[in-house]
This record gives sequence, C-alpha cells and structure tokens, in this order.
Amino acid sequence: MLSRKITVFITILCLTTIGVFYRSGSGSGSASRILSIYSNLCACEKCLTEGDPDFREIMKASPKPFLSREYETTQEVFNWWKRLQSNKDPFDFYNTTVKNLFEIFPPIPPLIESSPDRCRTCAVVGNSGNLKGSHYGPLIDFHDIVIRMNRGPIKGYEKDVGTKTTHRVMYPESSTLLDNTTHLVMFPFKIKDLQWLIQKFAPSKNKAAKRIANKDLVMILNPAFMKYVHEMWLKKKGRYPSTGFMTLALSMHMCDEINVFGFGADSDGNWYHYFGAVNKNLRTGPHPGGQEYDILQQLHKAHKIHFYNGWQ
Ligand SMILES: *[C@@H]1O[C@H](CO)[C@@H](O)[C@H](O)[C@H]1NC(C)=O
Ligand SMILES: *[C@@H]1O[C@H](CO)[C@@H](O)[C@H](O)[C@H]1NC(C)=O
Repeated sequence: MLSRKITVFITILCLTTIGVFYRSGSGSGSASRILSIYSNLCACEKCLTEGDPDFREIMKASPKPFLSREYETTQEVFNWWKRLQSNKDPFDFYNTTVKNLFEIFPPIPPLIESSPDRCRTCAVVGNSGNLKGSHYGPLIDFHDIVIRMNRGPIKGYEKDVGTKTTHRVMYPESSTLLDNTTHLVMFPFKIKDLQWLIQKFAPSKNKAAKRIANKDLVMILNPAFMKYVHEMWLKKKGRYPSTGFMTLALSMHMCDEINVFGFGADSDGNWYHYFGAVNKNLRTGPHPGGQEYDILQQLHKAHKIHFYNGWQ
C-alpha cells in the first residue's frame, strides 16, 4: 500500500516536472530522463536493448565479443576466419598461439552489463572526412566511452574529433602507440596478428623497447564475433565486415546509448579520411560498404543509434 502511494506520488511529481519543463521550454530531453526511471534496462533516456524483438534476437545470438582463456574456438569458426586473409596455418597452431597469448595477458574482465542505475554512453568515432569542420569534439568527449579506430589522429583535429580515447581498435598494420589509460582492442584477421601481440607484450630483456599500450588493457576480438557480425548483421554480404562496422556491433555490447561519428561519405558522396587528402575513388575493398551504410541508416531511423553525419 505504502509503495503504491509512493508510485502515485512519483508519477504526479513527474507529470508536474514535465509540465514545468514544457512550459519553461527547456527541452523534452530532461523530461524523458525522468520518465526513464520506469525503464528497468538502463538509466539512459532510451536503452539500446529496449523494444524491437528483432534487434534483441540478433543481440542474443552473439557469442562472447572478446577472446578469453576459457573461450574455445570451434572448427567452423576457425574455417571461416582463416579464409579472411588466406591463412595457411593449421587449427592446432591457432590453438597454441591463443594459449600462449593468455600466458601473457591477464584475463579480460567480463563486460559490464546494462543495469537500471547506469547509463553507459558511447561515441563510436570513425575516420570519415565528414568530421572535417564538424566541431563535434566537445560532444564526442562528453561520452563515457570513446572508441576510435586505427590511426585516426587527434592532434591537430581536436575541435572536430575531441581528445578523449577510452578504446582504440587496431590491427598490426594500423597500429599506433597508445597511452596508459586507453584500451587496445585488437581485431585479429590472421594468426600473425596474435603472434604480433605476443611479440609486442612478452616480457623482454630489452627494457628500452617502447610499449605500445598498457598490457592490462588489451582486449582481443573473438573471431566468432566477426563471423557472427557477417552472418547476423550483414546476412553474409561481402567477404567480411569492415573494421568500422564490427566496431559498431561491438559497441552494442558495451553501451546503452550509441552515437556514431565519422562514418560514411561527406555530403558530396566522397569517401576519404578526415586526416588525408580527398580521394574520390576510395573503395570499400572486401567489405560490403553500401550494405553496412544502409544498416547504419536503418538503426538511426529506428533510434537505436544516433548517426552524426557532419556539417558539410
Ligand atoms: C583446438 O581447440 C578447440 C577448442 O579448444 C578444440 O575443439 C579443437 O579440437 C582444437 N583443434 C586442434 C587441431 O588442436
Ligand atoms: C600504467 O598502468 C599500469 C597499471 O595498469 C602501471 O603499473 C604502470 O606503472 C603505468 N605506467 C605509467 C607510465 O603510468
């Protein structure tokens, strides 16, 4: 009885507050933030996994996003993965490499689940030229988690891309030095990429060797997750998903609210990087660029993510 009274009271309080907000015209955002105490999924205005059964189905089908000591790769996953970059090395060599890997790296802590008292906001920042002149920097830095990709630089571009980086996705060919507080999220495309990690982080006598990242903050994408994104999100279009798209799919397991920056072409339809020269013929290679972009737009329309496409 008492709790019912409290509920009624809170409801009235909310309605009154909403009234005040509307009258003062200070944004319905605050009003929906208050209403969100009725959502039990997360503490954001809107939670990623709210509503939409199809979306939840796809999410549920996901394997563990990160490799761990305990995770066992299946033959099926290995067969799919080894074709990405025509790996010739056999499965048992992969097994041994993964085993060696986790002798160096501490166990990756489990991902934080969404909870009614938390709102994990994420900025997924791609490298598209549409960031140029966007002035998104402060907005990007406002997020709890800021995920950047490959060599996407900050220095000299702060106004448009921000300064904060909590996670940086990379593979050996796109690697860059990270500071002590940034998670290195390795996307392995071949066994050599795993060996590269071992080589970079194994205890060495050469103390002068520059560390590329904090060893305690290394996370390795699970090949089974790559296969899952290809099959469940892209319906097997293209040979395999792009780094950007896999990063977005990964963010869905780390965030309650996702804002996407620096993806896609600029307003003239040009694909290029914000830090490079304009290349009107930049192709998407083995990746189903158009398909990925369509899904991004659909997710935006369904209010699952918010897609910021620059000001150009
Ligand atoms: C590799 O490891 C997986 C899972 O741990 C196991 O099922 C598989 O038989 C192993 N394969 C080889 C060739 O060692
Ligand atoms: C980086 O962080 C680790 C712990 O995560 C710590 O042991 C190390 O001293 C730090 N290094 C620097 C240069 O701050």
